[in-house]
Amino acid sequence: MKSITAKFGKTPHQPSLWTRADALKVRADDPTTTQPLVSADFPVLSDKVFIWDTMPLRDIDGNITSVDGWSVIFTLTADRHPTDPQYLDQNGNYDITRDWNDRHGRAKMYYWFSRTGKDWKLGGRVMAEGVSPTVREWAGTPILLNEQGEVDLYYTAVTPGATIVKVRGRVVTTEHGVSLVGFEKVKPLFEADGKMYQTEAQNAFWGFRDPWPFRDPKDGKLYMLFEGNVAGERGSHTVGKAEIGDVPPGYEDVGNSRFQTACIGIAVARDEDGDDWEMLPPLLTAVGVNDQTERPHFVFQDGKYYLFTISHTFTYADGVTGPDGVYGFVADSLFGPYVPLNGSGLVLGNPSSQPFQTYSHCVMPNGLVTSFIDSVPTGESGTTMRIGGTEAPTVGIKIKGQQTFVVAEYDYGYIPPMLDVTLK
Ligand code: FRU
Repeated sequence: MKSITAKFGKTPHQPSLWTRADALKVRADDPTTTQPLVSADFPVLSDKVFIWDTMPLRDIDGNITSVDGWSVIFTLTADRHPTDPQYLDQNGNYDITRDWNDRHGRAKMYYWFSRTGKDWKLGGRVMAEGVSPTVREWAGTPILLNEQGEVDLYYTAVTPGATIVKVRGRVVTTEHGVSLVGFEKVKPLFEADGKMYQTEAQNAFWGFRDPWPFRDPKDGKLYMLFEGNVAGERGSHTVGKAEIGDVPPGYEDVGNSRFQTACIGIAVARDEDGDDWEMLPPLLTAVGVNDQTERPHFVFQDGKYYLFTISHTFTYADGVTGPDGVYGFVADSLFGPYVPLNGSGLVLGNPSSQPFQTYSHCVMPNGLVTSFIDSVPTGESGTTMRIGGTEAPTVGIKIKGQQTFVVAEYDYGYIPPMLDVTLK
């Protein structure tokens, strides 16, 4: 049997496996791992733009950081087209669902600022048109570098291809607000290699994106997490004993689950500036379990490594399922072995009555979890959906050993700073 372990044979570490047996433990609607219902009368941040993935400004250690008392978030953003003939249905009404579903193709990075950690004011686009080398500006991480206000924005340049890139600029504050300046030169860092991480040539549905740089609190080195799929031609992966795990009799059939090959990638910087990176084998693979482990990120707590990632119901493999939401794994050292939190991995999922209410959760080191509203059922029948494209209520979770618990709910888009930096 050729397994994942064989594929990463001669490497410094072996990826941890999220197995089918782990995923069989996922229980939707467990109140300790389910996001409270989002009401259909939510407020929207803007009627001009949709926002989704939210990226709070932070330092390299993961602390959410304000500057001169201003909180700053970056969001994937796309214009709303309420009057564009292209998005009117045959009765002349705005088809907001189609407009929303098309947003990924025109995603751009915008920023917002706030004095209160909520009530966000739109700052504008981070990069002027023409600066980013591809059509789509997909998710990543803004890092505040120093007291001069320099910021490295790591993100994904998509279509054509998918390249992890970075662009350096500066945050400038006044009494009245924040501007981002100088984000003018985008530096490509790396792409999938086809040996550890699947390329577009191997699979047209490949994922390679969402960089999240960090400094390892133990070894002090600069690393980066990212989303990937395990290398190999689509359909060529083996779901063997290791990927299946310890399942009960009658659960050995893996169906077509070889098509689901998500992994959480890691790279190490060869320099202190984070301009030169070497990809390492994935930290975690989900072959035979799920096809997407998106926006991976860490919380470092109690000397442990809490690895979080977002995933969908529709990306699960045959025979396993779970809600849209954030999943997590914990290890005592950076390279694992990782075990799924709560036994299954599920940390905060949508309730089954509102399966698409939120997505793209980001667990912050203070236990607050931010996400965006996707769509919430309205009316008696629940068949009509209200599209969000705005910030969801923030949820508080408690992380304790190998378990997590939902303990609080806060205001829409509440992302309070953990520390403030006074610019020089
Ligand atoms: C998560 C995500 C990211 C990607 C972006 C594209 O919501 O799929 O992985 O960067 O959205 O819009």
